[in-house]
Amino acid sequence: MSDRERLPVVVVGAGAMGGEWLRMLARSPHAETVGVVDLDVDLARATVAKIGLDVVVGSSLSDVAKASGARAVVNVTVPQAHRVVNEEALRAGYPVLCEKPLAPTVAEALRQVALADLTGQLLMVSQSRRYFDHLAAFRGVAGGLGPLGVVHAQFFHEDHEPGFREQMAHPLLVDMSVHHFDMLRYLTDDEPVSVRCDSWNPSWSWFAGHAAATATFELSSGARFVYQGSRATPGLQTSWNGDWHIYAERGAAHWDGDDVVESDAAGASVEVTSASEGIEGSLEEFVASLRAGATPQNEVRTNVLTLAMVEGAIRSSDRGGEKVVLAELLEESLVQAIADEQRDDVRELLRSWSSAADGIRTPAWGSSRAAIASGGAR
Ligand SMILES: NC(=O)c1ccc[n+]([C@@H]2O[C@H](COP(=O)([O-])OP(=O)(O)OC[C@H]3O[C@@H](n4cnc5c(N)ncnc54)[C@H](O)[C@@H]3O)[C@@H](O)[C@H]2O)c1
Repeated sequence: MSDRERLPVVVVGAGAMGGEWLRMLARSPHAETVGVVDLDVDLARATVAKIGLDVVVGSSLSDVAKASGARAVVNVTVPQAHRVVNEEALRAGYPVLCEKPLAPTVAEALRQVALADLTGQLLMVSQSRRYFDHLAAFRGVAGGLGPLGVVHAQFFHEDHEPGFREQMAHPLLVDMSVHHFDMLRYLTDDEPVSVRCDSWNPSWSWFAGHAAATATFELSSGARFVYQGSRATPGLQTSWNGDWHIYAERGAAHWDGDDVVESDAAGASVEVTSASEGIEGSLEEFVASLRAGATPQNEVRTNVLTLAMVEGAIRSSDRGGEKVVLAELLEESLVQAIADEQRDDVRELLRSWSSAADGIRTPAWGSSRAAIASGGAR
């Protein structure tokens, strides 16, 4: 693929967020939509017509991808459908950029790690909230503060989005906090080790499941990540990105989630550079990684620990706030993944891992392609 050619993609899922992707792709210099797929073909046609696109539309990913000459897939379906859509695309030979959350459970995520290895195709998760100029500036400031004491994030929103979110058991943790947990991993380069969490639903909430939670994560450096959130909070809204404080050995820093980054540390300077933000940023990284054979930040393996933060928090809350060790959750998830997997090739690859931790250690894209070419997936 030449650097000037726009990557032809099929967008699967033409709902609310699918429409956002299609509008962004229409003006992107990096990729263009050549096909749109949805189980609801009338909805797909209506979305395409509203945006003024002339593309192939249908309900079968394989048929639309073939007919349209696509070379990659963007998966914007509901979370429960992510794995089956990714599987069809990867097995048909298309790399995939998949909306968050990659899967409802870590076990399902591990099955997708193995599938990406087997097919040798790039599977990247679009954790689009990593791509904000002021988050990058905050990260730069945080890097100069020395050892971390505590990172604090709060997210308070009044969020009315009828559909799958309002029916989920954990709409905050699964659908929204997954962004904030992933941002913590981007921000600090520190990794989560364990979590204690309490989640609940405020009495006035319009969500069926738990719309509020508090969670404390222990990080590998010994620092703590303290998180509070609610998406049923009328009043004093934070940014969608949350409101962040970091307290460290050499001072503190604050980001309001929008365009205010400040620090009282001696010599701290806030440097904001301009780059593509949100889903535009993740698309740009996906296309650049395909062109260079490079590993993107959110290659499927890397994302597993973000999902483990979500599932660990839910498990802790379900067990009355008990401490959940994420390494144990990962290994239990591998056992579950092997038990659930129906495809022999994926199950055998999962069985060949000495542990889940080992399975997610090496990025799949790039290194695995070389391994597959020489006759062994790992
Ligand atoms: N990054 C962000 O900031 C952000 C914001 C909103 C939504 N999202 C994510 O985007 C995804 C979609 O959310 P949404 O709000 O557009 O949901 P939605 O319910 O509005 O749309 C999902 C669409 O997927 C279609 N679909 C479901 N299963 C399918 C399948 N197997 N094959 C083809 N189509 C299928 C449905 O018919 C529906 O039209 C979710 O994963 C959500 O978490 C991300």
